[in-house]
Amino acid sequence: MDEHGAGGTLDDHGRGPDAATTASPDVRRRADVGVASARGVVGDADEWRRAALVSSLPTATPDTPLMAELHQDARRRIELRGRRFPRPASTRIITVANQKGGVGKTTTTVNLAAALAQSGLTVLVIDTDPQGNASTALGVDHRAGTPSVYEVLVESAPMQEAVQESPDVPGLFCVPATIDLSGAEIELVSMVARETRLRTALDHYLSWRAEQGQPRIDYVLVDCPPSLGLLTVNAFVVGREVLIPIQCEYYALEGLSQLLKTIDLIQAHLNPTLHVSTILLTMYDARTRLAQQVAAEVRTHFPDRTLRTSVPRSVRISEAPSYGQTVLTYDPGSSGALAYLEAARELAERAAVPRAEGAARAGSGVAGPSDQMSSGEEER
Ligand SMILES: Nc1ncnc2c1ncn2[C@@H]1O[C@H](COP(=O)(O)OP(=O)(O)OP(=O)(O)O)[C@@H](O)[C@H]1O
Ligand SMILES: [Mg+2]
Repeated sequence: MDEHGAGGTLDDHGRGPDAATTASPDVRRRADVGVASARGVVGDADEWRRAALVSSLPTATPDTPLMAELHQDARRRIELRGRRFPRPASTRIITVANQKGGVGKTTTTVNLAAALAQSGLTVLVIDTDPQGNASTALGVDHRAGTPSVYEVLVESAPMQEAVQESPDVPGLFCVPATIDLSGAEIELVSMVARETRLRTALDHYLSWRAEQGQPRIDYVLVDCPPSLGLLTVNAFVVGREVLIPIQCEYYALEGLSQLLKTIDLIQAHLNPTLHVSTILLTMYDARTRLAQQVAAEVRTHFPDRTLRTSVPRSVRISEAPSYGQTVLTYDPGSSGALAYLEAARELAERAAVPRAEGAARAGSGVAGPSDQMSSGEEER
């Protein structure tokens, strides 16, 4: 069943019972037609209302940066509040990676995940970093001994035993990482199929959900540790797409060629569908020339893959994890929350048109590369 239920009463997140599915086929067909046309009218009216509100905003002049920022936030609030993002044709599995530390991998993973889930999609975060930062930010239990990605990887435990739902965002799930995972790099070395264990576990979990009649997972986001060891290799083998967060600072691009070489190697030997689909500029401070230069350089090298939205440096974003929250729930109206919501919308809308060979593996129900960002795109 489509959890974007046509006929049911939807809660704040758009989830709810689908009344049409309990009616007779004839009634259901009539309801479907009625709802579809109503949706079109409501959708147009909603877009029109948003456009009218945006155009009524006072114009910002370049010489008032504060005004410009307020204007941008107001526009984003109007554009994004209550908006539902399109479901991908099949589950998108995105590995968030950069072996450089502290560039915003975890922050990006949890906030994009929360933004997608708040906009009506079902999302799973897999925390493959022994630091467990993503688990902390999502407010899920990850004390030593909690079933986690360690049990899944090393003890072949079924993933469903480790999955927890976020207490704050319905539709957002997490496989946490505990401190046990710090030993996994070494334990995995001598194991059979050491590079593909996470992929096998996720495939089984997605099939298990389907058998149980649970809603399909629309997005899987995998948070990586700041290294290129076996945990990251597992994350690259499970992913179909890579999202690279780049911090708008000096040294930002150092190490990037190493990362791209590693992704090419994984693609050649372990996961032919893997490709860098998305780059997100993080901790952007528009007041500094350095940030502007880094952003311009990244956009020149990766014109199609870099999201238009960049994430500003924001105190609210960095405070949120200490409350076990994402910025989306901690301060939904802040610039940081709005930027992640807008980035999530871009991510979702880029995938809205599926390509024919979308299913990477027959019957897997898992999305392959999208057209506009094929792995063939060369950095210039
Ligand atoms: N946009 C932002 N504005 C302000 N602070 C931020 C922003 N994004 C991330 N931070 C802060 O920067 C630090 C590093 O971010 P984060 O933990 O997401 O990076 P990471 O790449 O996952 O790090 P690691 O490599 O250690 O896993 C954190 O303290 C986080 O709160
Ligand atoms: Mg991290």
